Amino acid sequence: MRTPIMAGNWKMNCDNDEAWELAVAIANEKGDVEGCEVVLCPPATALTTVLAAIEDTNISLGAQNIFWEESGAYTGELSGPMLLSCGCQHVIIGHSERRGRFGSADEDFTPELQQVFGDTDASVNRKLQAALSHGLVPIVCVGELLSERQEGQTDEVVSGQVTAALAGVEADDAESIILAYEPVWAIGTGEVCDAEEANRVCGLIRRTLAGCVGEGTAEQIRILYGGSVKSANVVSLMAQPEIDGGLVGGASLQAESFCELIAAAAASK
Ligand code: PGA
Repeated sequence: MRTPIMAGNWKMNCDNDEAWELAVAIANEKGDVEGCEVVLCPPATALTTVLAAIEDTNISLGAQNIFWEESGAYTGELSGPMLLSCGCQHVIIGHSERRGRFGSADEDFTPELQQVFGDTDASVNRKLQAALSHGLVPIVCVGELLSERQEGQTDEVVSGQVTAALAGVEADDAESIILAYEPVWAIGTGEVCDAEEANRVCGLIRRTLAGCVGEGTAEQIRILYGGSVKSANVVSLMAQPEIDGGLVGGASLQAESFCELIAAAAASK
């Protein structure tokens, strides 16, 4: 059986005081949670603050990005050893907000800004390999744009991203990997993907994984859904056999709503 996971992606939110307050509130409520792994992914500036708040709990810490070199002249980047030294066990890789794959509704994100982040399938693969080599659990995000869905390209785009991310990864190393299916049009929009459709795409991801690392390993890998997960839809999402948890943005920024999601995930399987 795959243990469910609820991961909170705080994105570029929370200064250190706010991060402390939020993490303490979640830890007080769900620090001893069982039946669900909980991961908090604050901005890099708050990693050690959150680590202190979740000490001696069942909650673990994740970063939002990693660079594959260990050290050197890479201004602004963070390496695997640095993340480990902050207490991270997980790292999000290839989030659509870093792949430069924002939906066209995001008018603030001009093509120039998209290029600033600019993760590609190739960089996602390098980051995934770097995370594994340092013993960090990668949470690899994949998902189609609204235009790609409308043009019937969802399956091709998603399976292509999975195959590219996993290139060169040995089956023995792949078991710890977590995938997150995040349709870009559902992120931060309040428009959740229909639970059965999300389950279908997660099933496609698992079959694609089986082609990369074998069926046995693919059965072990947890696949999360992300994109406007909230209390109102978490139960139907978690009831789906291929969905093993959630990667949550907005609803992870309030302790009460995130704790509801954790409770639903823990009760789901
Ligand atoms: P959301 O974000 O829950 O705010 O839609 C999810 C994500 O981007 O991981």
